Amino acid sequence: MSVQNLYNLADRSAEDVLTHCERNDLAFIPWFPIATGNLARPGGPLDAISTDHGASPAQLALAWLLRRSPVMLPIPGTSSVAHLEENVAAAEVELTDEEYEALADAA
Ligand SMILES: NC(=O)c1ccc[n+]([C@@H]2O[C@H](COP(=O)([O-])OP(=O)(O)OC[C@H]3O[C@@H](n4cnc5c(N)ncnc54)[C@H](OP(=O)(O)O)[C@@H]3O)[C@@H](O)[C@H]2O)c1
Repeated sequence: MSVQNLYNLADRSAEDVLTHCERNDLAFIPWFPIATGNLARPGGPLDAISTDHGASPAQLALAWLLRRSPVMLPIPGTSSVAHLEENVAAAEVELTDEEYEALADAA
């Protein structure tokens, strides 16, 4: 079983639903995982951290979601094979505790 709700770095208003999913072993699919592309845009809130980290803003947005919860199942939409490959590679991006907090504050 799974739940799909609006959730991304910039809009975490479904936090209570996510917590419920964690407690009940339900998958949580974050709708608009990179905020319809806004979190990935050049000059966006993740751009500066991205330069420091060596990962793209989209990858940071997805890595943050994956770090947030073991029940998180992001399915980012894209019309581009390059973005698809970039987004899949986000699963390998590891965030330090400091980066995780900084991303939550930046968005
Ligand atoms: N539950 C619901 O009611 C509901 C409603 C709407 C959507 N959804 C689901 O939510 C999921 C995601 O929705 P979504 O696709 O609209 O939102 P999204 O995944 O947050 O954002 C998609 C946008 O991000 C861009 N993008 C993707 N990867 C990128 C990258 N690496 N770098 C830069 N830009 C990138 C895409 O542009 P490019 O094409 O140029 O890559 C596209 O404009 C879908 O599976 C959809 O079915 C659910």
